[in-house]
Amino acid sequence: MAPRRKNRLRIAIVGAGKVGTVLGRVLTEEGARITAVVSRSRSSARAAASYLRCRVYADALTAIPPETGIVFIATPHDAVRGVAETLARLEGLDFRRMSFCHASGMLTAAVLSPLEERGSAVFSFHPLQTFPRSFPPRAMVSSARGIWYGADGSPRALLVAGHLARALRGHLMTVPPEFRELYHATCVVASNHLNALLAVIQEMASAVTGEEEPPLDPFRPIIEATLRNVFATSPGAALSGPVARGGVGTVGKHLEAVRASVPALLPYFTRMTLETIRLAASGGSLAPAPREALENLVSSFTRELQHQGKPQ
Ligand SMILES: NC(=O)c1ccc[n+]([C@@H]2O[C@H](COP(=O)([O-])OP(=O)(O)OC[C@H]3O[C@@H](n4cnc5c(N)ncnc54)[C@H](OP(=O)(O)O)[C@@H]3O)[C@@H](O)[C@H]2O)c1
Repeated sequence: MAPRRKNRLRIAIVGAGKVGTVLGRVLTEEGARITAVVSRSRSSARAAASYLRCRVYADALTAIPPETGIVFIATPHDAVRGVAETLARLEGLDFRRMSFCHASGMLTAAVLSPLEERGSAVFSFHPLQTFPRSFPPRAMVSSARGIWYGADGSPRALLVAGHLARALRGHLMTVPPEFRELYHATCVVASNHLNALLAVIQEMASAVTGEEEPPLDPFRPIIEATLRNVFATSPGAALSGPVARGGVGTVGKHLEAVRASVPALLPYFTRMTLETIRLAASGGSLAPAPREALENLVSSFTRELQHQGKPQ
């Protein structure tokens, strides 16, 4: 794809994995220039550089040219500090006019303090998106547009973060450093727990149909409509089903069916039924009496799990 418009950002990518390659590609397509790709291995750097239309690639940080404005560190999070320390020792870079950021969800801007001490603007810049290992970069480029970036840093650094987010056609979400781990745990719920939930649906469908790995397609319209309804209103307003109606009899039969056919999923089912009760009650669709009846019903099943020494 030809660059859509010119923007003046000059960005070096450190870490030629999924995130570095995919976001580098979005930047290239949006008209930014990738000045260098540096990775642990030269072969990864070369493959990514060719995809990012960048001539400079290397396995050493010394390859970063002085005209670079932003260095984007997309290594695994346990390598970020070491990369920052090595970068801060480089000669020939004008640190005061440069910015450095990293893609880790767990780390704040503080991990880049060696670079801040040299006068650079530093910020965290976590893409709030999933980049699965088994997917080739070109299959993930379109889903990397329009995403949010969890960031922290000084006001000056956040200005640069805003420019970078816009160059990626994305948005900035400021994350207070003291809530960084909670922010990342929230992202885990949004993506990884959703994977686990879809696997639960598949396991229950397997017990119904007898197929080992039944397709999820029959559930796709209801899943997609639920998401649309939630984003059009709110989780509480979009809630339907037996809990919202206070259907104690139906919920009891569901719990019995799960216990009989997929007992390993009973802890999940009881926990999520309690969360659904809490949601329905907070939205006002569940009156106190049916709420109490539903909670007592679920408790009788969780007590059983406790007696069996199973996690609830
Ligand atoms: N994957 C996701 O869904 C996702 C989502 C949001 C944020 N993130 C964050 O983004 C960062 C990168 O994740 P990823 O999924 O792209 O990981 P990845 O595919 O494993 O890529 C990491 C790359 O970093 C390179 N690397 C490792 N140590 C290095 C070092 N000391 N110096 C230079 N390069 C080094 C590796 O190099 P070689 O290939 O050369 O060996 C590899 O290509 C992580 O902080 C991760 O937490 C990931």
